[in-house]
Amino acid sequence: MSSSIEKKNNISRCGWVSPSNIALVKYWGKYDNQLPKNPSVSFTLSTAATTTYVTLGDAHNTGVAKISFTFDGKENKAFQTRLEKFLNQIGPEHLPFVIQYHLQIESSNSFPHSSGIASSASSMSALALCLCDVAYQMDGLEIYDDAFFRKVSILSRLGSGSACRSVFDSMAVWGKHDDISGSSDEYAVSVADEIHPVFKTFRNDILIISANEKSVSSSAGHQLMDGNPFAAARYAQANNRISTIMTALKHGDLQSFGKIIEDEALTLHALMMCSNPSYILMEEGSLSVIKKVKQFRAETKLPLYFTLDAGPNVHLLYPAEYETEISAFIFAELSQFCHDGRIIRDAVGNGPNKIL
Ligand code: PMV
Repeated sequence: MSSSIEKKNNISRCGWVSPSNIALVKYWGKYDNQLPKNPSVSFTLSTAATTTYVTLGDAHNTGVAKISFTFDGKENKAFQTRLEKFLNQIGPEHLPFVIQYHLQIESSNSFPHSSGIASSASSMSALALCLCDVAYQMDGLEIYDDAFFRKVSILSRLGSGSACRSVFDSMAVWGKHDDISGSSDEYAVSVADEIHPVFKTFRNDILIISANEKSVSSSAGHQLMDGNPFAAARYAQANNRISTIMTALKHGDLQSFGKIIEDEALTLHALMMCSNPSYILMEEGSLSVIKKVKQFRAETKLPLYFTLDAGPNVHLLYPAEYETEISAFIFAELSQFCHDGRIIRDAVGNGPNKIL
């Protein structure tokens, strides 16, 4: 996809909404250039999303990114610097126009900024969608085909690893795995067609246990895996769990699915606890919720399962058909552990949308 300066006038502005995703088998540990040490699989979400608009300005041809950036209508210099670094990284090899034209980037999230929800997956994928859209239009291409989404996934990955999985409907696998045809460490692939319909109905309620910024960032966490004594065993385990969860997903086997996602969440946090230096991102409320969910499941036999990403907030996953009973339990028993009672009610979603 080469950008052609002469065709610049065909396009001025485009916009995309891109969702967040929740990993079921986690990516934790990476090589340079955001290449994963193990494959991962995630549900694409629906409500938690970023809206981004990119407007193509005048050509400057300096070879260095020049952007203006607003988040929720306000300038944000810290984000702007991060985005310029990203554009300077991808420009020379992937999208030359991003270092040849002034870009105006406007972004906003559907979820509150201080909700403790990581926004890098939705924000980097929304930006990558806009940039690839501009490049496609410059080249006179109008069809958003598989090649388009593959390119978007590669660029999203370079912005923030897990973002590469957000660009696909329902469910995506990132990382080379023998059971997943076409899988790659460089981009994610859709596995939406390989899963039982029950998983497309899944709800994902995010219990905001704490809205504080994390004490250890994900990038520091990935780096600490390099010295983790259990790293090799973990990468092998993640490979095996991809095989097991894909079988469960195919057959609609809720129990096996639930066991793996909970084991994955606890493994992720155990890896943090045995890093050097060790650290803990769960809070007391996270543990209270986990215990109550296990107890509720034992008593009711309803398929309610938890997972966590690299933070204290707990994602609760269950099929929509049990929403009435499970919502009643969540509000009666679990909202007391949430910061200001905050719960984001989300669900498996259909992937990004072009809005302009
Ligand atoms: O994409 P990053 O660098 O923010 O790392 C994401 C790590 C986890 O959310 C913990 C797991 C995952 O696969 O999304």
